Amino acid sequence: MTIKTATRATTAFALATGLAFAATADEAADLVVNGEIEMVTRTAAPEHTENLDEIISGWVFRSDETQTLQMDDFDNPGMIFVDQGMDQWNEVAGTAGNSCATCHEDVEESMAGVRAVYPKWNEEAGEVRTLAMQINDCRENQMGAEKYGYTSGQMANMEALISVQSRGLPVNVAIDGPVQATWEAGKELYYTRTGQLELSCANCHEDNYGNMIRADHLSQGQINGFPVYRLKNAKLNTAHARFKGCVRDTRAETYKPGSAEFVALELYVASRGNGLSVEAPSVRN
Ligand code: HEC
Ligand code: HEC
Repeated sequence: MTIKTATRATTAFALATGLAFAATADEAADLVVNGEIEMVTRTAAPEHTENLDEIISGWVFRSDETQTLQMDDFDNPGMIFVDQGMDQWNEVAGTAGNSCATCHEDVEESMAGVRAVYPKWNEEAGEVRTLAMQINDCRENQMGAEKYGYTSGQMANMEALISVQSRGLPVNVAIDGPVQATWEAGKELYYTRTGQLELSCANCHEDNYGNMIRADHLSQGQINGFPVYRLKNAKLNTAHARFKGCVRDTRAETYKPGSAEFVALELYVASRGNGLSVEAPSVRN
């Protein structure tokens, strides 16, 4: 089956169910944050992203007003949560009497570049770890503290704080070696049609990006901007919460945030953004 055929079939099905895709023109604009951090929002697709020539940040697809909010930290409503993350960083919690800072000290130094390479393999645990899993591992095993809820506000705050230390760096997750099986599993999920609408991630974010779906301008579903501040719910949203929402939109049963399936999917989706800049916290509608 060629990709063209799949697209046409999908569009026919989507039309029948009231999900019309309508073409629209792409705007070309540059994202420079605070007048100094130049973001790569479009670049050549990595070789392993076979069906795309170019990868494009979700920022490109948003309205001028939403785009502008992300260009200056004073305007970016997500930055408040970075401040909250900083309070959490310094807060002693748990039975060991530690804060994150007890061991990792200055977040700007110790967490520089970290977000860009997650999810990644953890040798000792023998598992692929998302940033959220790593944060909770430290909470539990280094602090004797309770885990953050996987998509909780506190988790999103901490992810945002750590991500800011990589802003402007290219996403660069590994896809081979010990993570390869997980990556393959994530790819499989990405192309699997689910729900009553029988739509895969690819049907929307690969076959139809740039088109309108209902009132929304479809992006490639990249996660280089996560956690993302959404104007819609006025808070930071984690990648797994977004995956859950998208799967639900196909009227399927969703996997749980933090599940092996979503971890694999996160690794795969992250790898499709290899070369785009870490933008978090980005702003979306
Ligand atoms: C008692 C010491 C200790 C405390 C407290 C601690 N960590 Fe860690 N953390 C570690 C160790 C040890 C590692 C593993 C270092 C390594 O091998 O990369 C680690 C690794 C990490 C990493 C992965 C870094 C990388 O390069 O992949 C992150 C992210 C992290 N910690 C976040 C946190 C956060 C957030 C907190 C507070 C909620 C915290 N840690 C509290 C000891 C600690
Ligand atoms: C029915 C179409 C549809 C399907 C299927 C779908 N999505 Fe989405 N997705 C959307 C829409 C609409 C948005 C909001 C506009 C945008 O950012 O593309 C969105 C947004 C996203 C975003 C946020 C991008 C950003 O930059 O903020 C991510 C990530 C994402 N989707 C991932 C996925 C994944 C992974 C799957 C498969 C599990 C999936 N989506 C399936 C329609 C879909």
